[in-house]
Amino acid sequence: MCEPTRLEMFLTRLAFFLCGKSVYRTFAERLPLEGGERVLDFGSGMGTVAFYSARRLPKGHLTCLDISKRCLNACRRTLRSYGNVTCLHSDASALGEDSFDVVYSHFVLHDIPKNELERVIPKLTGSLRTGGALIFREPLKDTDKISTIKRLLEKNGLLLKESRVTDIPLMGNALESFYIK
Ligand SMILES: C[S@@+](CC[C@H](N)C(=O)[O-])C[C@H]1O[C@@H](n2cnc3c(N)ncnc32)[C@H](O)[C@@H]1O
Repeated sequence: MCEPTRLEMFLTRLAFFLCGKSVYRTFAERLPLEGGERVLDFGSGMGTVAFYSARRLPKGHLTCLDISKRCLNACRRTLRSYGNVTCLHSDASALGEDSFDVVYSHFVLHDIPKNELERVIPKLTGSLRTGGALIFREPLKDTDKISTIKRLLEKNGLLLKESRVTDIPLMGNALESFYIK
């Protein structure tokens, strides 16, 4: 896999600094959390969403998983003050069955090639307990990829509960969908 450049890392950090509340916190605050859940942030990047979701889990646990070592090192730094977070350098193949109550993914799935999504999505849905929730937010312009993601989630036993389109600063329109297993 290809690691992000220092410039890309810098730009993400800048977006987090300038738009963290309007982009990442709004998504984290809509996650269906009561405080004690086991949660997976799939493709956590530098911990932009995790910074806001971890604080919603005073009795729960957040696993941040990312395939990029550079992103995950930055994620560890972003979340260093939280005691309820584990950072996992891996792809979806490391995920065990029924491990999480909530799985979320923010601007990750659209970047994964279709043939890889065929392997990744069953691992994500398998890691979710029955009755658990999966939430994704992806750019709306990537319609073909969004159709593939929806098809694979439904094929793997998830039911769509609700969807909304949000206009995100710097990123444009995105689809936010909430599925139940
Ligand atoms: C555009 S970034 C989004 C990061 C973060 N979720 C955010 O919204 O700021 C996509 C992230 O997904 C990670 N990623 C891409 N493919 C992955 C895979 N197959 N397994 C795990 N992480 C992956 C990348 O390394 C990158 O950190």
